[in-house]
Amino acid sequence: MHIVMVGSGYVGLVSGACFADFGHDVVCVDKAADKIEALKNGVIPIFEPGLDQLVETNVKAGRLSFTTELAEAVAAADVVFIAVGTPSRRGDGHADLGYVYAAAREIAASIKGFTVVVTKSTVPVGTGDEVERIIRETNPDADVAVVSNPEFLREGAAIEDFKRPDRIVVGLADDRARGVMTEVYRPLYLNQAPILFTSRQTSELIKYAANGFLAMKITFINEIADLCERVGADVQDVSRGIGLDGRIGAKFLHAGPGYGGSCFPKDTLALAKTAQDHDSPMRLIETTIAINDNRKRAMGRKVINAAGGDVRGKKVAVFGLTFKPNTDDMRDSPAIAIVQALQDAGAIVSGYDPEGMENARQMMDIEFAKGPYQAAEGADVAVLVTEWNEFRALDLNRLKSVMKAPVLVDLRNVYRAHEVEAHGFAYAGVGKVK
Ligand code: UDX
Repeated sequence: MHIVMVGSGYVGLVSGACFADFGHDVVCVDKAADKIEALKNGVIPIFEPGLDQLVETNVKAGRLSFTTELAEAVAAADVVFIAVGTPSRRGDGHADLGYVYAAAREIAASIKGFTVVVTKSTVPVGTGDEVERIIRETNPDADVAVVSNPEFLREGAAIEDFKRPDRIVVGLADDRARGVMTEVYRPLYLNQAPILFTSRQTSELIKYAANGFLAMKITFINEIADLCERVGADVQDVSRGIGLDGRIGAKFLHAGPGYGGSCFPKDTLALAKTAQDHDSPMRLIETTIAINDNRKRAMGRKVINAAGGDVRGKKVAVFGLTFKPNTDDMRDSPAIAIVQALQDAGAIVSGYDPEGMENARQMMDIEFAKGPYQAAEGADVAVLVTEWNEFRALDLNRLKSVMKAPVLVDLRNVYRAHEVEAHGFAYAGVGKVK
């Protein structure tokens, strides 16, 4: 199959490299000439474990290439994926589809022969219809089928998720397109990945429903965690106790500082907006959004309480700035709101992150340290915000010796209270009293 990926950002690049690794012939297109130039030179613009190796291998094998010339690539393609960004529109929270529609217009003008155009970007229900309308309007002779095929990749585990998916969802109404999409994903049949064919609208909604549900699940356990703290229960045991029920499932029940990242905040907002527009408001999702927003700042207050109720002039060390480990992504990271709350209360903040410091510099004005112990030098309280492996086995004696006051706030429940307290620390986790 000749595959073109329009948009060489996170999703486009990972998907393109993985399709090439399956043996397909893939061209990744992007308007940003500097990005394409970098990729041609083997420089990967994002941090994703294993991606550089995968790109290098497939470029060498001649299956993966990069270009800014969309027309040429599309003319030779069997399948064109649209994998451009759909950020939240400023002001109203709707997904901004400007890039998707612009891509559809450009693709339409260059189509030759039967071509399947697939939206991989996360797009609200009905976007496929509009993409199809744009293509037919731009090029009435185009022999085209428009398909929805959402991605379910987690940052930091995207390659694994792509190669061993729980399911593949494909929304279409055209038999020829079904044949093409079956070929595209045939390499995954070996792994027995279920492939679910649905209507386009259903497929588009599945993506939002999945992310909305997961965001709700996290938010549910976060509220249970708050209650645990009030009544003297332990949220980790509650998670285990409910997660063993097959109807609930154990995953996404880790209480923490609230969800962040490029998907959940944006997709929950877009789902709520779509639902409102169709006079079918999703109050569960609206409430989830509000609870999660409040939670991030509330975590700042939790740190302040752990430091004795006042952090004016005190130093707070922050371990982990990205929204989760194994990524350099800072988008909607809880660390942003936590740092802001601490600074508003007069604290001096020093932070460290294994991969996210460069992005963090654009978003916060703090002292950036070279490691956790340097960040903690002279600190009155240390707060673990992101559970990078590097923070899972801290040398607590060393940490204590560099800190002014040994207080550890563990927003990911990495440590056990009694272990940390045995080293002379005051400890606060999430959703447990001791
Ligand atoms: C998510 C979805 O998992 C993926 O399927 C979708 O395509 C894109 O959005 P991602 O944002 O990369 O992926 O990360 P994920 O691992 O899902 O975590 C999202 C956020 O939820 C993080 O901030 C994480 O810390 C938080 N989280 C996750 C919790 O607080 N508790 C949990 O139990 C799980």
